[in-house]
Amino acid sequence: MTTIQIKDKKFSLSIPEAEILKAVREVGEAINRDLAHKNPLFICVLNGAFMFAGDLMKTVSVPCEITFIKLSSYDGLYTTGSVKEIIGLNESVVGRTVVVVEDIVDTGLTMERILDSLHAKGANEIRIATFLQKPDALQRDITVDYVAMKIPNDFIVGYGLDYDGYGRNLKDIYTVVPE
Ligand code: IMP
Ligand code: MG
Repeated sequence: MTTIQIKDKKFSLSIPEAEILKAVREVGEAINRDLAHKNPLFICVLNGAFMFAGDLMKTVSVPCEITFIKLSSYDGLYTTGSVKEIIGLNESVVGRTVVVVEDIVDTGLTMERILDSLHAKGANEIRIATFLQKPDALQRDITVDYVAMKIPNDFIVGYGLDYDGYGRNLKDIYTVVPE
């Protein structure tokens, strides 16, 4: 089994790159079918979604725009419960179809905050595309339109997701090894 060390934690390989890329392609193909005539604005949530968004957009072939926002809710391994301000959305979303591109929907608090903000800004239709979802952790009534992979409620790193800032560059997903 491949294991790696990041800071004080050990992680073991759980989802290899090929499996990730196949699942991401399927999301892109579904979006192509659903949003062909909607001129969607993709909103990539930094930092975690950068790798997912990069691969996803290689499959998306409908006319579209992509922009980036930033916020954060995590402090190390545990959610802090408070979500910071959204920064960087300069485009108007009034009347538009937007697709929020996230790395993971965990409790759903972050996504709820983003949805509230986009509704307030006048978006017409909001879809959610997430690389990962932890269905057992969901605390909010949120419907995720596109999920590449569903995973158990364990802490993971890789493919954009970090542990205290490290591990985002890993091309595979690794799961924390309990001590
Ligand atoms: P939520 O607000 O609880 O849904 O958390 C969403 C954010 O928490 C994600 O965008 C990630 O940045 C972070 N997050 C949740 N679970 C993990 C994990 O297992 N590893 C790394 N980051 C995570
Ligand atoms: Mg994130």
